[in-house]
Amino acid sequence: MARANVVVMGSSNTDMIIQIKKIPRPGETLLGDKFNIAQGGKGANQAVGAARAAKPGTQVTFIAKVGKDVFGDQAIAGFKKDKIQTDYIFRDSKNPSGVALIFVAEDGKNSIGVASGANATLSPGDVKKAAQAIKSADILVLQLETPLETVQAAIEIADQAEVPVILNPAPAQKLPQEILQKVTILTPNEIEAETLTGIAVKNKTTAAQAAKILHDQGVPIVIVTLGAKGAYLSAPALKEMIKPFKVKALDTTAAGDIFNGSLAAALSEGTGLLEAVHFASAAAALSVTKLGAQPSAPRRREINELLKA
Ligand code: RIB
Repeated sequence: MARANVVVMGSSNTDMIIQIKKIPRPGETLLGDKFNIAQGGKGANQAVGAARAAKPGTQVTFIAKVGKDVFGDQAIAGFKKDKIQTDYIFRDSKNPSGVALIFVAEDGKNSIGVASGANATLSPGDVKKAAQAIKSADILVLQLETPLETVQAAIEIADQAEVPVILNPAPAQKLPQEILQKVTILTPNEIEAETLTGIAVKNKTTAAQAAKILHDQGVPIVIVTLGAKGAYLSAPALKEMIKPFKVKALDTTAAGDIFNGSLAAALSEGTGLLEAVHFASAAAALSVTKLGAQPSAPRRREINELLKA
């Protein structure tokens, strides 16, 4: 049997994390507690999330751009440790690798600012070089921390090759219908769903209203992630609120990324949609119990243990 094949395209950052009692307001200085550096970036977190959640033998390829600097070297070394295919990680000699400054408050909530650097120069031309990888994927995963025209170029290639596309519309931005109608699964959180639809999403009812608007714009499957409230899955003939796994949140950074990566891993091996969403919810729940983005991505065994418990 052919090995499952997940392709992720997107951002890679080095995260500078300060743990602090509460997020400082504009103009306010607060003394923090601990400082950590960890690998991050929504795209990279999704690739690592997929690689750790996937069944052994699954190929995960990451398409990205990093600087020709030590942060870029460290990011690539990390991907290799997770056995991620790095042939399409391009290097930018003019711009530095992406960096994110992150405050993590005592309640696990965060605030993130990103200097995109090389992520902002990942171009449709780069995507063209990776076209063969996209065409042979079982599933393509994207987010919005790289230029929209690059995201669109990848979606076009996937669409022509009939490769299903998961688009995690983060960070929130409005999207044109020509993109939405080529997306198979859209996975907004509450804020992203509101940006895309104008509906203030707070619960199952409002998530369903937002999903309906997105279906009308051509997206067949919508999964609205609602943090500690769970996730709402809306697909043809399948509307379901998925209950959250109860865990103590230390750091919610990258929970959405881990959800998307593990969802892709499960779907690539033929898991049914509902079961794949449960698997992804368990992975996301585990990720919030640890500090940092990529350090918190759980392994398949841990996810299966939580699902059994
Ligand atoms: O989703 C979390 C990620 O957002 C962080 O790792 C940070 O790098 C930003 O991209």
